[in-house]
Amino acid sequence: KGCKLVGCGSAVPNLKVSNDDLAKIVDTSDEWISVRTGIHNRRVLTSNDSLTALASEAAQKALQMAEVDPDDVDLVLLCTSTPEDLFGSATQIQKALGCKNNPLAYDITAACSGFLLGLVSAACYIRGGGFSNVLVIGADALSRYVDWTDRGTCILFGDAAGAVLVQACNSEEDGLFGFDMHSDGDGLRNLNAPIVENEVDCTLGSNGSVLGFPPRRSSYSCIQMKGNEVFRFAVRCVPQSVESSLQKAGLTASSIDWLLLHQANQRILDAVATRLEVPPERVISNLANYGNTSAASIPLALDEAVRGGKVKSGDTIAAAGFGAGLTWGSAIVRW
Ligand code: ACO
Repeated sequence: KGCKLVGCGSAVPNLKVSNDDLAKIVDTSDEWISVRTGIHNRRVLTSNDSLTALASEAAQKALQMAEVDPDDVDLVLLCTSTPEDLFGSATQIQKALGCKNNPLAYDITAACSGFLLGLVSAACYIRGGGFSNVLVIGADALSRYVDWTDRGTCILFGDAAGAVLVQACNSEEDGLFGFDMHSDGDGLRNLNAPIVENEVDCTLGSNGSVLGFPPRRSSYSCIQMKGNEVFRFAVRCVPQSVESSLQKAGLTASSIDWLLLHQANQRILDAVATRLEVPPERVISNLANYGNTSAASIPLALDEAVRGGKVKSGDTIAAAGFGAGLTWGSAIVRW
């Protein structure tokens, strides 16, 4: 059995934050950010906005493009590290879309590699589990976990959602040719946002004598990152992964139409493309407008490229994600 991409969609918050805006709150400049990252603007959720609503909008657009009814969706995978509920937000998207047949819906947490992992999971469900229409949504609001006083991280991230619909098809039409996924828990020290446990001010048991432990309430700390270590990791691991996927697909870098990497930094995109010998005109990049939108970045860039007429039906795309965990991976897909 095969699987193919039949629709895509995306949505971004209205609030645009420029490099000049950031230079008003931290010691930085438009020039530094542009030269070191390629980013000019990013979109940020306000306290009135909802990431779940943004993700639902992206998913709805993907269904419309695919001309698939929400009732025919049998799996919703929400790839996010920033759900709006501790127990996940995928079921709320299923509800917002009005999928009446109660399809399975759950979250996948794999940071900036989340969408790639969701895509590969969708293919496995279709090939092995009899699923027909799988919505894969990448959505993140890292702005909620950024330290807005840390110029090393707050300049990088933006909020967004993107989605694709993966559909079962016969093997001749198969649109996922090869993939390669990895994790390295050792690298978490270079990019993380660990849990923080705060003791609750409560006389009952606060000294541990009644409950046997101090009552506590947990939250997550802000994103902590050693940027240059993450940079080196991406430039080393992503080309290897793409080459491995290409090999499994029986292709070479020269035969792909597009290189679509997680949109983290233009210098990473350029370095990976150079290593793979993919010319700049075949590299999809939209991070100038959105920054690093984590799990949303690949479907957001794909959606813009498809709706803008750049990526055409039948084009072959090498997509690769990388990020916290550390996690990284790639997949060769046909649009
Ligand atoms: N404005 C001005 N100066 C800055 C800024 C800023 N915004 N940020 C850092 N600097 C300074 C540093 O303090 C340092 O100063 P010093 O030399 O006096 O100590 C100098 O600039 C160089 O700092 P580096 O960190 O070495 O700069 P680098 O060239 O590595 O660029 C950057 C930093 C942009 C963060 C880069 O390392 C990068 O993009 N790394 C990849 C990060 C990434 O993609 N992370 C997300 C992964 S995806 C996920 O899962 C979330």
